[in-house]
Amino acid sequence: MSQPSYWSERITIGNLAFPRFIGGPLDGITDAPFRKLVREFSKNELLYTEMRHVACIANDKGGARSLKFEQLERPLNYQVAANFDTYIEQACDKIMQKGVDIVDLNIGCPARNVISSGSGSALMADLPRLKHILSTFRKHLDIPFTVKIRSGFKQCNAIEVAKIAQDCGVDALAIHPRLQTERFAGRPNMALAAEVKKALNIPVFFSGGVVNFKLANMVYEQTGVDGFLIGRGIWARPWKLQEMAAHARGETFVVDNKMILSCALKHFDYMLEHYGQHAVYIFRKHVPFYVRGIAQASDVRQALMACKEPEPVKELLIKALG
Ligand SMILES: Cc1cc2nc3c(=O)[nH]c(=O)nc-3n(C[C@H](O)[C@H](O)[C@H](O)COP(=O)(O)O)c2cc1C
Repeated sequence: MSQPSYWSERITIGNLAFPRFIGGPLDGITDAPFRKLVREFSKNELLYTEMRHVACIANDKGGARSLKFEQLERPLNYQVAANFDTYIEQACDKIMQKGVDIVDLNIGCPARNVISSGSGSALMADLPRLKHILSTFRKHLDIPFTVKIRSGFKQCNAIEVAKIAQDCGVDALAIHPRLQTERFAGRPNMALAAEVKKALNIPVFFSGGVVNFKLANMVYEQTGVDGFLIGRGIWARPWKLQEMAAHARGETFVVDNKMILSCALKHFDYMLEHYGQHAVYIFRKHVPFYVRGIAQASDVRQALMACKEPEPVKELLIKALG
């Protein structure tokens, strides 16, 4: 078993320190309204933003879209994608001006539209370009810089990539130990994550299927990593990081329908504030996760499709979970 002290220690990134459980990036899910909700449970935990391409940040007038978040969401690790050095300096300046704690480069995204431009996990298959991009970020960032990688693109080369990142001055590295071809399914490669941890001096985080403290503890014992990115496990579970911290201390953490309802309603209100009326449609993807486990879940999902205004959505949630 891990020593209890391991779980109470903090991870150091540059001159910053964070608890070991971290809110990972999920595009379209862990957005600004959701992060604001997570902050009601977890004040000090690091939260990743969703990935934004440096060109999108550099060309976004006033940061109206790509940099739309609130300072209360910090500490934030703002995740970017890049395929060339163009726009990196401009994007870094804008991000630092807006105020975040860390910048993370995504070197792991498997999506076709991302890899077709040479960003995301495609960078793991072009090491000279990767080195140049990493050095360019390092040169223009005055704040800590991290990367998130996979096992590799088509072939496993995570150890080589991790060493390159460390040599280029990266302050911490997260690994989702699956190849691009495996996307988000199959068993994460624990042995590889352990080798990456052993090969580096900087903190290493694990991403892949960690949905509770028991699994985090198992990952720690098999890999020795320093921190855990909670991805799908936090979806519609904004209390998840606090729950895991409580379990790490040997405490109980009670989740009941009253709490789930209160979170779902707040989440929806924050989305309405952030996205306006369009939130009625965007919120649809979250509802099945809030009502999963209740007897009428499929009726709720069906009724939701007919809702065109905020009030009926709220009434539906209250009827299902109240
Ligand atoms: C819907 C969805 C969106 C994701 N978006 C991002 C993203 O923007 N940036 C990133 O680095 N990883 C992204 N990921 C990958 C996750 O951060 C994580 O590495 C992966 O899902 C495995 O961890 P999990 O099992 O805890 O979800 C995404 C995954 C999913 C399922």
